[in-house]
Amino acid sequence: MKPEIITLDGPAASGKSTAALVVAERLELPFVSSGLLYRAATHLVLSHDLDPEDAAGVLACLADHQVELIPASRGNAVFIDDEEVTDRLHNDAVDATVSKVSRHPQLRSWVAARLREIPGPFVVEGRDMGKVVFPEAAFKFYLTAPAEERALRRVGERAAALDQVAEAIRRRDTLDARQLESAPDARHIDTGGLSIDEVVAIILEEVGQVGKR
Ligand code: DC
Repeated sequence: MKPEIITLDGPAASGKSTAALVVAERLELPFVSSGLLYRAATHLVLSHDLDPEDAAGVLACLADHQVELIPASRGNAVFIDDEEVTDRLHNDAVDATVSKVSRHPQLRSWVAARLREIPGPFVVEGRDMGKVVFPEAAFKFYLTAPAEERALRRVGERAAALDQVAEAIRRRDTLDARQLESAPDARHIDTGGLSIDEVVAIILEEVGQVGKR
């Protein structure tokens, strides 16, 4: 396969991470989760007790640390100064602050630069991968699903009541809205009512790799 990049964008819990992981595995490509870099920056903000609104402070802190995203087909690992922090990046504290941190244009540029350093090909998921970071990507997908269905999916991942999860997802949709624009040439897939296998099949068909395992 040529060094092609496949982008999967969409809102929180739209199924893009799971779909991207399976697609990467089927195509034997590395999977890249761009959200992990925003989460790593947020972890630094929280652990240094920084003001997430203070873009200069956040950038200065990032400059003091070595943040590394290690892509692989079965998931990603994140290291900060050689210490693995992957299992500290998905929790309510990070979820509640990450949108504030990821809003800063300087931080978005920092993440984009880290991602563009990764040698292709790979499958990358996020919000603006197809439109902003990899406009030249060979295949672009934009996954959506109704907020209620996304909340139902996430409630299994976090120990919280459905209405709280739905509210948190709606809040994050609003905060992330600016980043959530689809690339004009992305193929939209409404994952509501579809199984992961069905979503993956649509993507693999478009990529022209249906039979490859
Ligand atoms: O995909 P995720 O839930 O791990 O992303 C965490 C947060 O990072 C999300 O609330 C929005 C932000 N994000 C972003 O702004 N742009 C991206 N490409 C990926 C994530």
